[in-house]
Formats: sequence, structure tokens, C-alpha cells
Amino acid sequence: MKFLLYIGALTATLPHVSGSGSTQTVVPACPPQPATPLEQEKIFNAFVNEFNVQKSIPEAFNNYIWVDYIQHNPSVGQGRDAAIAALSGRPRVNTTIVHQAFINNTGFVHHCESSTLLIKIMDAYRMNGSCIVEHWDVIANLTLGEIDPTPL
Ligand SMILES: *[C@@H]1O[C@H](CO)[C@@H](O)[C@H](O)[C@H]1NC(C)=O
Ligand SMILES: *[C@@H]1O[C@H](CO)[C@@H](O)[C@H](O)[C@H]1NC(C)=O
Ligand SMILES: *[C@@H]1O[C@H](CO)[C@@H](O)[C@H](O)[C@H]1NC(C)=O
Ligand SMILES: *[C@@H]1O[C@H](CO)[C@@H](O)[C@H](O)[C@H]1NC(C)=O
Repeated sequence: MKFLLYIGALTATLPHVSGSGSTQTVVPACPPQPATPLEQEKIFNAFVNEFNVQKSIPEAFNNYIWVDYIQHNPSVGQGRDAAIAALSGRPRVNTTIVHQAFINNTGFVHHCESSTLLIKIMDAYRMNGSCIVEHWDVIANLTLGEIDPTPL
């Protein structure tokens, strides 16, 4: 299953899906294949779970991110492997997801990381069909001096 999306949880309208139950075929999310908005949202949520919750780097990126994906964070190079390299060098952090949404081919994750610093992050990811192909983020330190009662 490594590097592949397990389609069993999805409504099976993607190409190359056959069988049912434990015999369902496993189909990679990338390169892009046609996907309904509901399928895209499930794939996006699976990526967020593997990346932000399980911290499965590089698996989450190899499973769901296009090899040539477009990176808008200026401190990270273009493409999937540059993101894996940048993220793999960081110390492990605890993540609290505050908001998560998917609309119009774009997934959003608003989260807070705690390590030696508290950092608030908004990530946006564009999908082409089944595959994540572009990323933007906004990152700031959380000082706890923000407007109460919601520090994020
Ligand atoms: C959906 O996103 C595309 C760009 O990817 C944009 O052109 C379009 O206006 C958006 N539609 C809505 C309803 O937000
Ligand atoms: C993450 O949370 C766990 C459990 O609360 C804690 O033991 C650990 O020190 C935290 N790690 C970081 C890097 O904040
Ligand atoms: C989506 O991917 C397909 C196949 O690689 C490509 O032909 C198409 O131009 C892409 N569309 C967008 C909006 O990125
Ligand atoms: C966040 O805080 C750290 C440690 O104080 C500092 O080095 C860094 O420049 C800050 N980042 C921003 C974007 O203010």
C-alpha cells in the first residue's frame, strides 16, 4: 500500500477501480485522474491525516503529491522531493488542526504547531482530480498576545 491510495473508502467511480470489499484495486492518487468533489475531499482528508496527524513523511507526500507540484513557499524548492527534504529535516512537532475544508479543487488546513515555538499555519493545496498539484502557505509565530478569546 505504500505510495498508493487505498480506494476502498471512496465511492468507486475512479478509473481502474474494480472489485468490492477486500478485493478492491488500489489506485495511485497521482498522476491526476478524474475524481468527483467528494472523492477529492476524501483524498485530501487522507493526505492531511497522514501528513499533519500521523506525521508520515515522506509517505504522505509520495502518496498524494504530484512529483512536479508547484510550491509557493519561497523557502522551499519546487516539486515534491524538495518539500519532503525540507520537512524531514524539521524536529517533530505536535499539531492541532483548527479548521479543515475542501472546496472547488482546493483544500485548506488551519493548524497550530507546538515545539520550542508555537506556530500558526494556513496551508492551501490545489488538486487536479485525484492528485495534489500546488501549495501555498501563510506562517506566523503564535505569541499568545493575540486578541482574546481565540488565540489563533
Ligand atoms: C474555482 O477555482 C477556479 C481556479 O482554480 C476559479 O477560477 C473559480 O472562479 C473558482 N470557482 C468558485 C465558485 O470559487
Ligand atoms: C507533544 O505532546 C506530547 C503529549 O502531550 C508531549 O509529551 C510532548 O512533549 C509534545 N512534544 C512537543 C514537541 O511539543
Ligand atoms: C490536470 O492533469 C492533466 C493530466 O496531467 C492535465 O492534462 C491537465 O492540464 C491538468 N489540469 C489542470 C487544471 O491542472
Ligand atoms: C518567530 O520566532 C522566532 C524565535 O523568536 C524568530 O527567530 C523568528 O524570526 C520568528 N518568526 C517570525 C516570522 O516572526
